[in-house]
Formats: sequence, structure tokens, C-alpha cells
Amino acid sequence: MIKIAICGACGKMGANISELLNGDGEALYFCGIDPRGGDKVYKAFNEIEGKPDVIIDFSSPAVLSDELEYAVKNNVPAVIGSTGFTPAQLEEINAAAKKVAIFRTANFSLGVNLLCQLVKRAAETLGEKFDIEIIEKHHNQKVDAPSGTALMLADSASSAFDGGKEYMNGREGICGKRGKEIGMHAVRGGTIVGEHEVLFCGEDEIITLSHSARSKKVFAAGAIKAAKWLAGKPAGLYNMTDLLNG
Ligand SMILES: NC(=O)c1ccc[n+]([C@@H]2O[C@H](COP(=O)([O-])OP(=O)(O)OC[C@H]3O[C@@H](n4cnc5c(N)ncnc54)[C@H](O)[C@@H]3O)[C@@H](O)[C@H]2O)c1
Repeated sequence: MIKIAICGACGKMGANISELLNGDGEALYFCGIDPRGGDKVYKAFNEIEGKPDVIIDFSSPAVLSDELEYAVKNNVPAVIGSTGFTPAQLEEINAAAKKVAIFRTANFSLGVNLLCQLVKRAAETLGEKFDIEIIEKHHNQKVDAPSGTALMLADSASSAFDGGKEYMNGREGICGKRGKEIGMHAVRGGTIVGEHEVLFCGEDEIITLSHSARSKKVFAAGAIKAAKWLAGKPAGLYNMTDLLNG
């Protein structure tokens, strides 16, 4: 059995992962790390007793340094699902991945990862004549914007253009005519799990590619699958493409 430590165990994603692990025949809940504490939940990485096989992290960027230090020191691979990292933190992840296996994605659903491929294909086909706008909608507790998934989608679209595209978060005031950017718009309200729409707006026609997550279970199941796949892998930075390609 693969022993899983869940960082952010007391949160919504943590609860979904624990619930799925309950009925899993290959992986089990080893411990949690969460300042809220609780049964088999440590408040910090330096308190962990025993050794998990893999960490699954859906918590906050605030814990990243401690988590990476623990992962490298103890050679425990980490599946990172948290979003909202700064460019410097993404560099920290890259550096740690030279010493231990790390899997990071802003979205664990198969559907969103397929959507990224479709968005790239659409951008390549439609080219500069179509303006690209991304609208994402999430629940009112989400702390970062734009969503990590919106950034993934923007990166997919941008990769279709030489030199890439700039991103523009929202617009207000006299912001002038639209340029060549990718526009990003964040809606926050109620209990929306996660909605993403990518609009390709041309002359007299609009193409919309979208994904709607109906529960967090889809992300939890993907993260557990990634943890099983990552256990025992050599150092490196892995993502959903690696997982889907076997
Ligand atoms: N990659 C994906 O597919 C995906 C899917 C859903 C959510 N997310 C991301 O996962 C993260 C968590 O989402 P959520 O909906 O479960 O949020 P949540 O607020 O319900 O839970 C976060 C948990 O992390 C804990 N936490 C905060 N600081 C911590 C620290 N320093 N150490 C350990 N734990 C800490 C909190 O106490 C809380 O229990 C967010 O960044 C969210 O954007 C990613």
C-alpha cells in the first residue's frame, strides 16, 4: 500500500482525497499536515513521525518551502495541486525537482487537460485574427485569481504564437482599444466548483471551448492517480501529460 500524507488535510480537497482513499485498495491515508490540526494531522512538516511514500498538497503557497525541504531531505515525492505560486516559488519547485520527484498541475481533471490541447489547436488554426479571452468562475472562498487553470489555458493558447502573448487581467476605465493580449476575467460567487471558457472572437463569429467541473472529486481522483504513478519515480518535474502518456 502507498502511504499518502495530505498537506491541507482539513480543507475541501483534503477531505475529498481522504474520503476516496478510504475505499482505495492501493493507497492509504498516512497522515495530514494542516495548522488546523486533528486526529493524525500534524500542524507542520517538522512534526511528522514515520515516513509517508508520497505527499499530496492542496493547501496554500505559504507552506511550499517547508514542504520542499521535507521532500528533498527525506526523499519523499510530492504531488502539488495548490495554486497561486509566485514566479520565485515556481523556481523553488523546479530546483527541488532536480533532487526529488515532483508532480505539479493546476488542474487534475482529464477534461481540462484535453481542453488545453484543443485550445492550442484552435489558436494555431485561427491565428492572430481571433481575439482570445478567458473567463473563469469559482466559489467565493477562492483566494487567488486568475485561477491556475485559466493560466494553464492561457499558456496553451500563447504557445501557438511565436514569442507568446501578454496576459491582461480584467479591464477597467478608459483602457483603450484591445491589443494582441489574452484577456483573463475572474468571477467569484457561491459554491461554483470551477468553470472555464476560452473564447476565440473573430469577425462575425465566436468559437467557445469550455469545461465545467461538477464536484471536487474529479480533482481528488486525479491527484490520487498521480500519487500512485509518482511513487518510486526518479527526480524530475512531472505533469498530467507525463501521466496520460504513461
Ligand atoms: N490542481 C487542482 O486540480 C486543484 C483543484 C482544486 C483546488 N486546487 C487548489 O488547492 C488549494 C486548496 O483548495 P481547497 O479548495 O481544498 O481549499 P481550502 O481552503 O478548503 O483548504 C485549504 C487547507 O489548507 C490548509 N492550510 C493553510 N495553510 C497551510 C499550511 N501552511 N500548511 C498546511 N496546510 C495549510 C488550511 O488550513 C485548509 O484546511 C487551492 O490553492 C486551490 O486553488 C487545485
